[in-house]
Formats: sequence, C-alpha cells, structure tokens
Amino acid sequence: MKGHQLTSKTDLAVVAPHVEQKSTTRHPVVAVIQARMGSTRLPGKVLLDIAGQPMLWRVISRVCRTETIEQVVVATSTAAADDAISAFCAERGIVCFRGSETDVLDRYYQAARLVQAKTIVRITADCPLLDPDVIDLAVSRFLEGGWDYISNVNPPTFPDGLDTEVFSFAALERAWHEATSLAHREHVTPYLRTSGLFHTTNVENEQPIPAHEHRWTVDDPADLEFVRRIYDIFAAKLEFGLADVLSVVDSTPELRQINRTAIRNAGYYHTLYEEAEAKAAPPLPLMLSRVWFARAQWVIPGCAQTFSKGYTQHVQGVAPLFLQRGQGCHVWDVDGNEYIDYVQGLLANLLGYAHPEVNAAAIAQYADGHSFSLPHPLEVQLAERLTRLIPCAEMVRFGKNGSDATAGAVRAARAFTRRDRIACCGYHGWQDWYIGSTTRNAGVPGAVRELTHPFPYNDLAALEKLLSEHPGEFAAVIMEPVNFVEPHPGYLQGVKKLARKHGALLIFDEICTGFRFGLGGAQARYGIVPDLACFGKGMGNGFPIACVVGRAEVMRVFEEIFFSFTFGGEAASLAAALKVLNILEQTDALARMEANGRWLQDGFNSLAQEAGLAERFQCIGHPSWSLLKFRDANGTDSLLERSLFQQETVKRGVLLMVTHNLTAAHDNGAIERTLETYAAVFKTLASWLSEPYPERFLEGPVIQPVFRVR
Ligand SMILES: Cc1ncc(COP(=O)(O)O)c(C=O)c1O
Repeated sequence: MKGHQLTSKTDLAVVAPHVEQKSTTRHPVVAVIQARMGSTRLPGKVLLDIAGQPMLWRVISRVCRTETIEQVVVATSTAAADDAISAFCAERGIVCFRGSETDVLDRYYQAARLVQAKTIVRITADCPLLDPDVIDLAVSRFLEGGWDYISNVNPPTFPDGLDTEVFSFAALERAWHEATSLAHREHVTPYLRTSGLFHTTNVENEQPIPAHEHRWTVDDPADLEFVRRIYDIFAAKLEFGLADVLSVVDSTPELRQINRTAIRNAGYYHTLYEEAEAKAAPPLPLMLSRVWFARAQWVIPGCAQTFSKGYTQHVQGVAPLFLQRGQGCHVWDVDGNEYIDYVQGLLANLLGYAHPEVNAAAIAQYADGHSFSLPHPLEVQLAERLTRLIPCAEMVRFGKNGSDATAGAVRAARAFTRRDRIACCGYHGWQDWYIGSTTRNAGVPGAVRELTHPFPYNDLAALEKLLSEHPGEFAAVIMEPVNFVEPHPGYLQGVKKLARKHGALLIFDEICTGFRFGLGGAQARYGIVPDLACFGKGMGNGFPIACVVGRAEVMRVFEEIFFSFTFGGEAASLAAALKVLNILEQTDALARMEANGRWLQDGFNSLAQEAGLAERFQCIGHPSWSLLKFRDANGTDSLLERSLFQQETVKRGVLLMVTHNLTAAHDNGAIERTLETYAAVFKTLASWLSEPYPERFLEGPVIQPVFRVR
C-alpha cells in the first residue's frame, strides 16, 4: 500500500452491513483488522493512547506501509461499546464493518464479502508493533499461489504481536459454512489451521530468535507499558520495525521483564473452557483389552515388558491395556478405539509412529540383511554423524536400550579411573549398578548397591559433601543434565568442576534430552561438555538403538572392557537413526515440536486456571517433554488427582501418563483436539473436586507409582 493514498475519499467509506461498499479495487488484497472495546484484561485497549495516537491508528498506519495490501477494513461488532471504534473510523475516513460480537468468523466473512476481497489478511488491533515487511513476506508467499491459508504462527518464529494470517476468500467461505464450535467461530482461523482440509503453510523468520520470549501484543496493562516504552524510545522515528525493536530489547533486558509471563492467545483457551461441558465421559468398549490381559496374566509376569507400560499406570477397567497400531501421533487399541498418544512408546518416537521415510530406510536395510557377521559401514557413518553433532562425541559405541549405554558408560568410567563409586542423579535404567540405588532393588547384591550414591539436582553443596565423604573413590558423576527443572545458573558448570576436583568423570545421561532438546542434546544447549554421554530413546524413532559417546581418550577404554552383545551393530536401526538425524537436520521438525508443545503446555495451564485448579494441575518443563504435576488441596503430590485426570482424558481419546512426550507428528489438529479434551476434563474435575469424597468419581483403582526418581 506504500504510495497508495489510504484515506482518499474514493477508496474508503464507512461500511455497515446494509450500506453498499464503495471500494474502487476489484478483488483486492484486503487487511481486515478486528477490533473491539470489550477486552476483559484491558477494557477499551484498542483506542488507548500510544505516543499520542490510539492503538488502532498505530496498527492501521503500519498496515498502510505494506507493499501488498490494497485496502483496509476495520471489523468491529454491533455492540454499543464498539460505537467508539465506528466513530473513530468515521472521523478518520476508515472503512468500518460492524458484525457479530462473538461470531468473529462471520464478521470476517461478511466484511470480506462486502469489499469483494479475494485475499484476506487477518490483523488484530492489539498489535501496534506489527512490521509491514513481515506482513508483506506472508502476503507475497501467499500470492505466489497454491495456498488456502498461510500464517507465521505455526510455529511462531516472530515475536507474539507480529502475527499475520493470509487466506483466500474461498477458504474463509468454506470455514464460515463448516466451522461449528464456539472457539472456531470466535477465533476465526482455527478451522483453517486445524481441520486438515486446507492447503496451509508457515512463513518463517530467517533470523533465528527465541520468539516465545518476545511478547509485543497488548493484552494487559503490562503489555501496554511495554509497547508504550518502545514507542517512547523511537519517538523521533515512527517507522521502526522488527529489527529495531529487537536490538532495543536485547540491549535493555529490563524491557523484556515487563510482560514476560503472559500467555499467547489466552482468550482462545477461555472460549474453549466456556464451551466445554462438565460431565464424566462414557466408558470405552474394552472387551478385547480384557481378553488379552487375562491371557497375559498366565504367561507374562507383570503383563508387560516395561513397568511404565503396565496396567498399574492407568485406571484399570477404564483405560485400554493393549495397543494394536500406531500412525503419526495416533494409536488404536485392540478394540479399535483411537487415541492421541502422548506417551509415544516412552519417548521412543520422535517423529511419530510409522514414519514413512524412517521405516523405508529400515525396510531397505532389512531387505539387504541387518544382523551381520562383521561390522557394517553404517556403524561408521552414524558414528561420524554423531561426532559432528554432539559436542563431547569424539568416538561412539552402540547399544540397544538406554540402559546399555548408561551401564557401558559407568563401566568405562570405572575402568578408566580405576575407582568404583558412582554418584547419580535422575533415572538411568534397569541395570544393577543403578537400580540398586532405588526402592526397586530386589535381586541386587548389597555390595553393588553400596557403590551407587544418588544426589539431589541443583544442589552443589550436596554433591560436594557426597564426593568428599569418599575421597578418591568416585569414578563418575552421572546425571540427567536437565529434565523438568532448569539448572540454576552455573549449576552444570559447578558439577563439572566438582567432578574434576574429585578426579571423577562427568557423564551426561541424555537418553531423554538427546536430540529432543536440540541436535547436540542438552550439552549443546547449556554449553557444558561432559566426558561421556548416553543417548537412546527417540534416536531411531522406535527402532532399538542407543549409544555411548565421548572423549576419545576415555572411549578407548571400550577396547579393554567388555561391552559387547549380539545386536550391538544391528544395521536396520542404524539406518533408521541416520534417517532420523537427516530429518532433524533438514526440516523444522524440532521447532514444530517445541512450538506445538508450548501451545499444549500453555493450554493445559490456562485451562487449569480457568477451572480454578491452577494450584493443583500444572504443566512444567521443556515444551517437547513437559511434566504434569497433580496435587491435592494441600499442595501434596496426589495420585487421586492424577487418576481422575487420566481416567477422563483416556475416555475422551487422549492417552497420557505424567508427561507430554511430543513428536513432530503432533500437528495443530491433534493439539487442538487435546485442548478441547482438557477443557472438558478440567471443567468436570472442577465440579468433582469441589465436592466431598471426590474419590467416588474414580471408576477403578488409584494409579500406583513404579517408584519416584524425578
Ligand atoms: C534418563 C534415562 N536414562 C536411562 C534410561 C534407560 O533407558 P532404557 O529404558 O531404554 O534402558 C531411561 C529410560 O527411561 C531414562 O529416562
């Protein structure tokens, strides 16, 4: 619109549903700016002053500086409060359409129809820091053709407040016809994004920035203060954009503190909750699960191969006991019930079940043989790749389960240092050296148990004390560098220093964090290089593979110790792992996982808050692997709350335990359906937990913990 006279009398007129529209442009690219006075957190916000002009004017001025937008329409409601917006537009000669207050999808549709828009750019009036170049980027991509809907928020790589969505009139019309839920009508675009019916894509920021740390939209007084401060700083230069604001924020850290806690799109969760119904979901048909379980009881101790997959981890009689099939983020149980799966084989699937490219790589290897009599070149190729990606990795040995890797690393450390004691923090697998230190230590000789010493996370003094109690005896400090609680500043550096001081090796157990928290694992993220590190879980996207990597000098000890088993170099899993790493390196899979995980986490916490249960249900940790905390009214961890939650989610088609194990296959549709489920579950729990004896709503025994380590 640069050089285009926005306010010329011919282009613009006040448009009401019954007034003929007067645009001279046929089928233009139209920015429809939604605006209303009735914000709950900041009433009248869109007309509040920002450096001498109403916020809405700031937004319009920025949209007018784009190259691609030909016309601007403000879409507000017919509510009396919004007369002020209409009057403002009339005064400034801006097209203003008035429509439904709650059915904003209809408001968009009617506004777009009136001006015969072919392409609609959705802008919200609470984003006075919009960057015209960012809008142009999205619109230009859209105009290249082939898309129904484009945005820059899936995943967001720009600050919150630079959101731009572009869609065709045809797509809008289809959504207008088909979308039925309140949330879809009120928030305009969820149906376009999540129904899977439209050809959509995302526009990414070429400059990598931590987008979620920047909140430039105005939802509450803190946001307003932030934006006003920015405008004040640029008083003399109103054409400032993304790069200018970023450099100011980066050089003035306290600016970011002003509004850093707010959640993206909080209003959306509010609508989801409003719409939800409080009631127990009907039971699932589970006859075949019961039949298989009855048979398993005769032949399989515990009826499962992994404790965490056992029947005690879900509400018995309510949840399925056997799964048959998985695809992407979905699984189907033996009775044919479908679930969105947030367990994902206990973090085994990083890209989702049955990933076609990974499976194809493994199948090709199966066709050529996969358990050979001599090493296979894939061992070298994968080892070379890992040494390129992981900071501490100079050499590599492969195993199958994570426990192979941790046991191998511990044995290597003992052999290298010629010491026996191990300090550990977190969970490290089933082998004697570790499990002997837990309450499930039956069968582990006392002599072995005595050599492993757990220490608490984020407590350097405790580690120092432990290491000092047995001077010269510790072979290694092995720990998960992070799980759900961030390391205190300097903590990991401190651990490394202590290990060095006491002559022990530092081993990072990255079985869970590896690749999920970035291609170089948590060690790359925090910039701490251990002596050895262990990887497994999602490395082969479900194919069994794990590895120990580390400093060559230490790794050479594998030539002396016995770390050797039949399937160590099994080649189909090596091929799968290489393919996984290719995909992670070449696509935005990890970024999407993190963005969708953040959406899910924010949604969980927002919906818990809507239900008045924020103190009792909390989702913490990294968005790609977040922990659900369940507490009773006294703030104590509670299996009853967990059981009620799992009972109601599984009946509604969401399979989870205490974590969100995200995969790249958890797409927008899956997250949205999960949040609809959470809305209903929280509303139901809010009513149950406000009554005496909420345990009477439990339809089976309370879930039992395996044991607590995290
Ligand atoms: C941090 C960590 N280390 C080690 C292991 C052991 O891995 P596996 O069960 O594959 O032997 C696990 C398994 O959950 C883990 O979470």
